[in-house]
Amino acid sequence: KCDNISIAIDGPAGAGKSTISKLVAKKLNIEYVDTGAMYRAFTLKLLEEKIDLTDEFKILEELKNTSIDFIDGHIYLDSKIVDKQIRDNIVSQNVSNIAKIKEVREGMIKLQRKIAEGKDIIMDGRDIGTVVLPNAKFKFFIIASIEERAKRRYKDLIKKEEKNISLEKVKKEIEKRDKIDSTRAIAPLKKSVDAIEIDTTNKSVNECVKLIVDIVEGR
Ligand code: CDP
Ligand code: CDP
Repeated sequence: KCDNISIAIDGPAGAGKSTISKLVAKKLNIEYVDTGAMYRAFTLKLLEEKIDLTDEFKILEELKNTSIDFIDGHIYLDSKIVDKQIRDNIVSQNVSNIAKIKEVREGMIKLQRKIAEGKDIIMDGRDIGTVVLPNAKFKFFIIASIEERAKRRYKDLIKKEEKNISLEKVKKEIEKRDKIDSTRAIAPLKKSVDAIEIDTTNKSVNECVKLIVDIVEGR
């Protein structure tokens, strides 16, 4: 029996993780799992239920009544596909404060490991190479300048016809999220010592995909 291929992709918001991971998955014919989508789905639920986001007790009560899954590239919240809704900027603005809660992370990590078990997989997030899949065969840390990441995110939001945004606002929000993600007590965003860093600032999506595929296929 061959070992499974496991690829861990981590890095800050807008670096290109999910776009690149999806294409690498297609090229290698393996499964892609977006762990950020899971934290986003739970945050969406809290917003929909109008839970006070500073009330950890209420948040954890809600967690018990929430089912999240990632199947065939779709994110499910209580059996409903919420691919679109989880990308709303209101979710982006709140997700990091939910993702830093210990019990929330424990629940998600359990689910992520279960999904990855016995499969060829590429998984992206913040703590995949460091915590979720520390034994992943390949680990990449994807970065880009804050200016470039803000520009990319701004473009994505304009396409979605989000109102009340500006490049400057998007940049501030990304900086704030990066700060919360990389300074939290549990599983902060950081490069795993054995991860290969790829700076995508001046690279096309296809160049980044080729870089990773070549390494995985041993070229
Ligand atoms: O796509 P983008 O970089 O904007 O974010 P994402 O990957 O969808 O993740 C959204 C948020 O979820 C992050 O800012 C983190 O707060 C949290 N997250 C996490 O804590 N751990 C992960 N493995 C993935 C995401
Ligand atoms: O998942 P993450 O937040 O790291 O980033 P993403 O959502 O995959 O990428 C944000 C945007 O940057 C997308 O519109 C990508 O198409 C774009 N991108 C790019 O222009 N050049 C790259 N080398 C990588 C991503």
